[in-house]
Amino acid sequence: MPDDRLIVALDVPDALAGLALAEKLGDAVSFYKIGLGMLTGGGLALARELKDDHGKRIFLDMKLFDIGATVEAAVRGLSRFDLDFLTVHGDPQVVRAAVQGASGTGLRILAVTILTSLDRADLDANMIRVGDLADITVERAARALGAGAHGVIASPREAARIRALPEATGKLVVTPGVRPEGSALGDQKRVETPAAALHAGADHIVVGRPVWASPDPRAAADAILASIA
Ligand code: C5P
Repeated sequence: MPDDRLIVALDVPDALAGLALAEKLGDAVSFYKIGLGMLTGGGLALARELKDDHGKRIFLDMKLFDIGATVEAAVRGLSRFDLDFLTVHGDPQVVRAAVQGASGTGLRILAVTILTSLDRADLDANMIRVGDLADITVERAARALGAGAHGVIASPREAARIRALPEATGKLVVTPGVRPEGSALGDQKRVETPAAALHAGADHIVVGRPVWASPDPRAAADAILASIA
């Protein structure tokens, strides 16, 4: 039984490269994230193929943000693709519209709190209110869950505090910003190891570059799976 706590981000240029990677990973990985980088490269077709022909679960990471009516329409359209998870920004009005758009389907709406690539200086530049980044992330998570999100995306550094929120009972906590011991950070700033992220209360961890940019993606995935077994 493959361990679906590991979600591999297929941040490769197009569907062909994504399929080749998924074939290399084989049975080891049962859950894939397809993101904005593959929007023009056949990402939705790949999602369908991985789901229908390979039985994989799919997390479509679109991080939608717009007026409510537009978000609702976008989510309603995407919900026809039989996806498992979809991200929207964690602003309560966006979350409410997305949950409405997904109603009656199995699609789970995950709310992005604060990107794991951002630190306090970035929040200043983005005019996000003064205060501790972790506190703001946890408060954003509480508001998004209160607005009906089925789960949140957060750094493993904030996962334990989010897990402990009363609003988080029965909800999903999914953490990118995960790095196996010794692997390069890239642009990520708030990271933990796979085991630490799960220990902090994450239901799923999202790992991209440490797997897809590895010379041996299957060995990299197997090593992560062994570290959380
Ligand atoms: O390569 P890496 O493991 O850093 O990939 C992390 C993935 O998770 C990327 O696809 C990125 O878009 C996504 N992500 C993130 N931070 C968030 C939400 C999603 O890094 N808050």
